[in-house]
Amino acid sequence: MYSYLTISSIFLATFAGATAASNYGEYEYVVVGSGPGGGTLAANLARAGHSVFLIEAGGDHGDELLQRVPSFSGNAAETANQSWSFFVNHYQDDTQARRDDKFTYSFPNGSYYVGLNPPESTTPLGIFYPRGNTVGGSSQVNAMNFALPPDNDWKYIAELTGDDSWLPESMRQIYIDLERAHSVPPGTPGRGFDGYISSNLNNVSYVTNTTHVAAVVREGIRRLEGIEVEDQTHLSELLQREINALDTPMYGNGSWFQMPVHVDSLRRRSGARNFIIDTIQRENEDGSQAYPLTLSTHSLATKILFKQDGGEPRAVGVEYLQGEGLYAADRRYDEKTSGELQKVFASREVIVAGGAFNTPQILKLSGVGPSKELKELGIPVVKDLLAVGNYMQDNYEGGVRVRASTDWDFPYEARCFSGSGECLTEWLEHGQSILGEAGAPVSFTYRSSVSENEDADLFFFGTPGAVFTGFFPGYSTAFVFDPPVFTWSIVKMQTGNTAGTVTLKSSNPRDVPIINFNYFQEMADRDLQAMAEGANYIIEVFQNLGSPYTPVEVIAPNPELDVNQALMDEAFSHHVTSTCRMGPKDDPEYCVDSTFRVNGVKGLRVVDASVFPRTPGGFPVAPTFMIGLKAARTILAELVSES
Ligand SMILES: Cc1cc2nc3c(=O)[nH]c(=O)nc-3n(C[C@H](O)[C@H](O)[C@H](O)COP(=O)(O)OP(=O)(O)OC[C@H]3O[C@@H](n4cnc5c(N)ncnc54)[C@H](O)[C@@H]3O)c2cc1C
Ligand SMILES: *[C@@H]1O[C@H](CO)[C@@H](O)[C@H](O)[C@H]1NC(C)=O
Ligand SMILES: *[C@@H]1O[C@H](CO)[C@@H](O)[C@H](O)[C@H]1NC(C)=O
Ligand SMILES: *[C@@H]1O[C@H](CO)[C@@H](O)[C@H](O)[C@H]1NC(C)=O
Ligand SMILES: *[C@@H]1O[C@H](CO)[C@@H](O)[C@H](O)[C@H]1NC(C)=O
Ligand SMILES: *[C@@H]1O[C@H](CO)[C@@H](O)[C@H](O)[C@H]1NC(C)=O
Repeated sequence: MYSYLTISSIFLATFAGATAASNYGEYEYVVVGSGPGGGTLAANLARAGHSVFLIEAGGDHGDELLQRVPSFSGNAAETANQSWSFFVNHYQDDTQARRDDKFTYSFPNGSYYVGLNPPESTTPLGIFYPRGNTVGGSSQVNAMNFALPPDNDWKYIAELTGDDSWLPESMRQIYIDLERAHSVPPGTPGRGFDGYISSNLNNVSYVTNTTHVAAVVREGIRRLEGIEVEDQTHLSELLQREINALDTPMYGNGSWFQMPVHVDSLRRRSGARNFIIDTIQRENEDGSQAYPLTLSTHSLATKILFKQDGGEPRAVGVEYLQGEGLYAADRRYDEKTSGELQKVFASREVIVAGGAFNTPQILKLSGVGPSKELKELGIPVVKDLLAVGNYMQDNYEGGVRVRASTDWDFPYEARCFSGSGECLTEWLEHGQSILGEAGAPVSFTYRSSVSENEDADLFFFGTPGAVFTGFFPGYSTAFVFDPPVFTWSIVKMQTGNTAGTVTLKSSNPRDVPIINFNYFQEMADRDLQAMAEGANYIIEVFQNLGSPYTPVEVIAPNPELDVNQALMDEAFSHHVTSTCRMGPKDDPEYCVDSTFRVNGVKGLRVVDASVFPRTPGGFPVAPTFMIGLKAARTILAELVSES
């Protein structure tokens, strides 16, 4: 059963050796970042026969259990060699910022203090915000929730840019082409079965077999949808309605369902990493490499190289540092070690896909960004572009936690975490046991009174018997099992706040930029009202359950505070987007046009979550996989029309 691991490890050892060599070569395309955006783009271009050099700051850990086992995902997000630890500001107002008990400080010895009463010797860091730093990007360490956005989010891009290829019907085809669905029968309209990203649902019987949790779902469905759940089979059918179904009907007035996840039929993580490695490993009959994809791991891109071409700058290559732990967000960072400087050239294009924090940093370091900021740091301006690092957005998440009068009895199967290996075998051989289950067994959408259209504007996911308050150092190991507590996360869609920024702290590419989310600066009343209405609904569900569940104590939003204040104090997020937003071509308020080209620069595109003009739906990863494939097709279509 371990043969897959062994074969891959041998292969990877050989492969890692091959990429360690110095490289001053030339490729058609150089891609920076191997996440859902850049990784799938690079692999698709190579599969179409084009040479691609893929630069990734992290290493490959895709065969480690930490990345493969769904229930270990939180740990992967906090492992030093797989994830970067950013610290961000939710608010620039210190008083408001430090009302959050997740606010983190550092002791002089580097240890963290998290909480409301920091000792005097500490210095404030901000709010912990992990990002994948590994082959496959954040899709290797995330919670795998794989929900498409409402169709209106694609319509918005089509209208903003005047480009019909962004309409929902075309985007649906992209989704069909990349998906390999395991939760619906082959032939289901609007779903894909031959793609490179697997999708599946959790095992619904964990919910339907657990009487107390099932009681919450029944009451929730009754109040929200007016459906009386007849029995366990009926409940199971209702929960297996698909949020990713054609025309996304679940995004209307609200429904209960199970969260889709990017795992395969045996509940192993599926993501950009598998597709990249599979593309590299493919051989022709004579044993030669089938697709011209070269992956350079442990390579931190520091600068895009430009030359003048007919009065406009053209991106012609990338400089990078080879070495491990070179970036200050890496927990292994040591400023005394320095990497080896390398260069690689692109005969056609450079594509930046470092994620929504790193993409604007790389562009700015290379002279593409707001000229005032660049000049202050002595960076020569290649293209003055205001939208780089501005208009940053995210889905707010708000916590609802209640303590019932009885335990929820959700079967976390303590045996699986005892290290006995019994569950690991069940998971490896059959994809079973709680190890294969992702974090959120139940979900629902909710349409508040302030939704801007006919869609639900909130997306909830729930975890019975556990406390989760958001992100702070140690969050993955501090995850507390508390049997009578039920935690819900309210994910706010239809983002109202575009006031976030990523600005350079210095011109040193190893430094982390300054990240200000400026929460609730725009449309605060609307967003808070929506979240409060959603919180009210689910609290009422609990309060109406009767014996043996009630009375139910509400823990969050803190009932002793005004609800808006309580939501603002605890709000968190981890779906950052829009720091190089897409819009009308050559409009300086926007960073890229509808074909991902950076405004005013030749040979340069951005293909990652930075380009969304609004955070899509409640979960960015599925739409980011989609733009990776869309960008590949756009580039290939342009080549055909040129020739
Ligand atoms: C803990 C966690 C949980 C999440 N849960 C979910 C979820 O359940 N559902 C969901 O939809 N979304 C979730 N997300 C968010 C989602 O994973 C991201 O939105 C998505 O991966 C973004 O893709 P991307 O390609 O834009 O960037 P990323 O996936 O972040 O990839 C960027 C890659 O670029 C590399 N890179 C950056 N800078 C450089 C450089 N200078 N040189 C070389 N390489 C560089 C990074 O190492 C990284 O591998 C979660 C994220 C995290 C961290
Ligand atoms: C990465 O870190 C983990 C946890 O510290 C460790 O078990 C693993 O061996 C490391 N992997 C590599 C390739 O360094
Ligand atoms: C760092 O200092 C703090 C405060 O003195 C202490 O509590 C902590 O244990 C120290 N950490 C380490 C790793 O020494
Ligand atoms: C739920 O109950 C059914 C019927 O007893 C059983 O077959 C199934 O294994 C149970 N599910 C879990 C996760 O234990
Ligand atoms: C939502 O509810 C309204 C009012 O009851 C109804 O008119 C509308 O058709 C519903 N929308 C959906 C998608 O079911
Ligand atoms: C759900 O888990 C139970 C217990 O491991 C198992 O018997 C059942 O076959 C699983 N069902 C699915 C659809 O995986």
